[in-house]
Amino acid sequence: MNQARTLIEYGVPIDPQAMVTPPEATELELEPGHPGLGDEGYIRRRKQLFAICRKHRLERLGPPLIDYTPEETRIWREVSPKLDELHEKYATQIYLDAKRELAITRGEIPQLRHLSERLRRETNMHLVPAEGALPYRIFYQYIGERGFPVTQFIRHGSHPEFTPEPDMIHDCLGHVPPLMNRDYAELLTLIGKAVAATTVGEQVLSLKRFSWFSIEFGLIEEAGDIKVFGAGILSSTGEIPNSLFSPEVTRQPFVTDVVINTDYDPSRMQDRLFIAPSLPFLRRELEDLVRQFGIPVL
Ligand SMILES: [Fe+2]
Repeated sequence: MNQARTLIEYGVPIDPQAMVTPPEATELELEPGHPGLGDEGYIRRRKQLFAICRKHRLERLGPPLIDYTPEETRIWREVSPKLDELHEKYATQIYLDAKRELAITRGEIPQLRHLSERLRRETNMHLVPAEGALPYRIFYQYIGERGFPVTQFIRHGSHPEFTPEPDMIHDCLGHVPPLMNRDYAELLTLIGKAVAATTVGEQVLSLKRFSWFSIEFGLIEEAGDIKVFGAGILSSTGEIPNSLFSPEVTRQPFVTDVVINTDYDPSRMQDRLFIAPSLPFLRRELEDLVRQFGIPVL
């Protein structure tokens, strides 16, 4: 693998080493255009949750119990029923079964500590509190140890259906339920182990794209239908219908060589998606890729 080759991510050239040793935010940073900018109460709350979750992550204390505010609960109660209705029609069965098993309801924001205990019993996965989006390689290093990093803050109330960053609704209604499925848990853990074991920037980027177009934005075949499987789609009332029905979206079979060479823009609606035939298919493809890269994790 040639480390000197220029890598492109999000349309711009990147330093391959940044994929391997990325900078990590030690303080809350809201990106320009974030709906919470200028709202002092929101920023105070975000700083408080940032500090608690970062401490619990770094000291490996597990998810803290959070006393959610009435405003946070209001946002949850506004968004989750809309997503629920779309999930019933368009989400993969694996997801629907798991959400029921975990008893995630429309009324109350779940405590990640309790969900983590339940996951541990089912698939030996657990949840790691995250103060915000973690750099990709750090994120997947936790996953290689069977820990899934999850945020515990909620998007700003002025735009309940939009978040420019992963929040509790994205994580809890997108990522957490499928962790109850053994095939899914093993697929994810293998990506994590592979990312943690390589120091080649190009390989990290390839694995990142593999997970983006499956775990994050994947579609999957199920009993002759195409169902939503990726967390980024499952947690967005806009992306669910867009991913399945928009004529603007190109949908093509999941071919690993194509997927790992496809760049994407995470800041907008996705217009290129891949359809995987099954979770075991993705597992085999991933194993082949890891072998091809010579990463010693199998
Ligand atoms: Fe995500």
